[in-house]
Amino acid sequence: MTKKAIFEIQSYIGAIEQNASLYDEKNFDERMDAIDFIGFHIIDQLENLLQNTAQPDELISLRSRAEKVKHKLEEIDTNLFQKLRANIRTGRYKGKEFKNLVNEYVDFNINKHQEEIGYDNLDIFINGLSSLPIIPEQTKDLEPEMVYYQKTPARIVLELVEKCHFTKDDVFFDLGSGLGQVAILVNLLAGIIVKGVEFEPAFCDYAKACAADLNVADVTFINIDARKADYAEGTIFFMFTPFKGGIVQEVLAVLRKESLQRKIKIITYGPCTPEVASQNWLHFASPKNDSIYKLSVFTSL
Ligand SMILES: C[S@@+](CC[C@H](N)C(=O)[O-])C[C@H]1O[C@@H](n2cnc3c(N)ncnc32)[C@H](O)[C@@H]1O
Repeated sequence: MTKKAIFEIQSYIGAIEQNASLYDEKNFDERMDAIDFIGFHIIDQLENLLQNTAQPDELISLRSRAEKVKHKLEEIDTNLFQKLRANIRTGRYKGKEFKNLVNEYVDFNINKHQEEIGYDNLDIFINGLSSLPIIPEQTKDLEPEMVYYQKTPARIVLELVEKCHFTKDDVFFDLGSGLGQVAILVNLLAGIIVKGVEFEPAFCDYAKACAADLNVADVTFINIDARKADYAEGTIFFMFTPFKGGIVQEVLAVLRKESLQRKIKIITYGPCTPEVASQNWLHFASPKNDSIYKLSVFTSL
């Protein structure tokens, strides 16, 4: 059994070592799948075999071969992201140019529907554009109705920009902006003014550092409770369920006041959608959804 397993692992590693297309920086998707396969299939299997053998030498050398090829593939991505960040900093990759850039590396379908929040290679790619990989610790306790940080899948942000047809005068707010990815992506994809409102100061600092690192203009992060923020300029408000119950009601009451000055749009994703849908001053503008994990767009009446 072990002999057969070792033979199989040897051929998998050999095939990855020899597959020239994996070393072409453009083939990000294929490389990601190979890195995943080495990590979760080959190395895991070798670890299991190592626990049950008295003669580990061959397995140890195979494991180091697998780690070496994995490292080599990861290095291609490290260099690729360094290059892409430098390109983005020049300011030339905005709107269509940014979307084309992403399309060159990742094959994604914004119309693919998932019943749950699902992350994929597009998220890995977008994460790679941030040079600050260490996620900060939460420093403030959340109130019971506040929701902890979780990222909106990048595919959903691309869908949001595609479907919302922003105008150059729109000002987009991400309520509960977390580490800033939605805000930065919306600015890169649509080129409009974007503001993130975030309760946790460490997240807000991280988001500011990411925006500064990519040299994106017109992206601001404000460290404040969403109930107290100034929305005077806002026309589009996005909520990936940052809070529930009473806090949603309080924030919606603030937004309703804003809607008396100008038409606004509220876009929701996740469990806060039914709470927003129950507001009689909002009109459901997207096709009716059967899932909270589809974007819902509301306009003020
Ligand atoms: C589900 S995460 C969404 C993060 C981000 N919008 C995204 O989609 O990637 C919710 C965020 O809302 C923040 N939050 C919770 N209550 C808040 C409040 N009252 N005011 C501002 N931010 C809040 C949390 O700290 C967390 O970062």
